[in-house]
Amino acid sequence: MISDSTRTLLNAQIMAEFFSSNFYLELAANLYFMGYPGFCEYMKKQAEEERAHGMKIYDFLLCQNASVFIVAIAEVESENFKTPDKVFARVYEHEKDVTESINLCMKEAIANNDYAVISFLQWFVDEQVQEEKESYRLAEKTKMLGEDVSGLFALEAELLK
Ligand SMILES: [Fe+2]
Ligand SMILES: [Fe+2]
Repeated sequence: MISDSTRTLLNAQIMAEFFSSNFYLELAANLYFMGYPGFCEYMKKQAEEERAHGMKIYDFLLCQNASVFIVAIAEVESENFKTPDKVFARVYEHEKDVTESINLCMKEAIANNDYAVISFLQWFVDEQVQEEKESYRLAEKTKMLGEDVSGLFALEAELLK
């Protein structure tokens, strides 16, 4: 049993996770054409994870007998980034926005005493701590490296391990 307003936000969060997945695929292609296939692979993996996050909420809603509404995913606005540090700075900004929308879901669940949702969303709260940490680390590292191509290649190799 989930309250209607919490269910609405969870449905929106599914689409937000799918949007993140598409956004990261766009950034992956961007990195590929910059000449960094390793960063591209890394972002493709992140895209898969975002898709899995959406599916995790989807399965939870089914499990709770709550309706799922699959609607249009917002269009990704392509930005033409020139260097990896600009891409990863953007990823970090995006992850902070995601944290905010997870927090809104949590706030609604708390306001409505949706205890099962509160427990379920805790995983996402913890996940965002890791996502912010990881994306911040990458943004900072690539910023330090700037256009040091061999340093960036070494970082790509390290990420794919
Ligand atoms: Fe996510
Ligand atoms: Fe994420």
